[in-house]
Amino acid sequence: MKKIFILGMMLLVSAFALTAIAAQPPVPADGIKMERTKKPVVFNHSTHTTAGCAACHHPVDGVENYGACATAGCHDILGTKDKSINSYYQVTHKAKGTKYDTCVSCHVAAAGDDKDKKKQLAGCAKSACHG
Ligand code: HEC
Ligand code: HEC
Repeated sequence: MKKIFILGMMLLVSAFALTAIAAQPPVPADGIKMERTKKPVVFNHSTHTTAGCAACHHPVDGVENYGACATAGCHDILGTKDKSINSYYQVTHKAKGTKYDTCVSCHVAAAGDDKDKKKQLAGCAKSACHG
């Protein structure tokens, strides 16, 4: 009886593990072009492995979500002048006070007191992002 119970528990646990794996899509190849705004950025997953997927692919209404940032109904306001908190420009650039990390907020933190690194990671022209 005990053995059957343990076997049942093991099956249950592996079923959960499988759903968890199935929910996470494969990581796309490097070189994703984010070119919805005037200054395109090439994004590489391989240089962003320290944070979990959800640091960027945050849940939507409590549900895991891997959609592109500018999916309709998400960050689909593309004008750089738009200052609403969910606009594409803000969720990529706002340095402070956002619910989730933005590209720039995390890059500022990653650069710390290193001025050159800050220029490289959080600058505009001649940065790692905008060339
Ligand atoms: C540092 C931020 C960041 C992290 C961490 C990250 N991603 Fe991404 N991911 C992106 C960006 C940016 C895109 C491009 C989105 C766009 O085109 O709007 C993307 C695109 C994707 C896409 C394609 C989405 C689409 O429909 O175009 C998938 C799938 C994906 N990532 C999976 C993952 C998985 C799995 C992990 C964790 C192992 C992960 N990502 C970690 C930022 C990140
Ligand atoms: C959770 C933190 C985090 C977030 C969010 C994040 N980054 Fe980064 N990014 C890093 C770190 C750390 C590095 C590497 C810094 C180093 O050691 O030089 C990096 C490096 C880069 C580089 C230079 C390396 C390369 O792959 O060419 C680019 C470009 C870049 N990030 C783009 C982006 C973009 C675009 C976004 C938003 C869509 C983003 N990052 C969001 C942490 C982050």
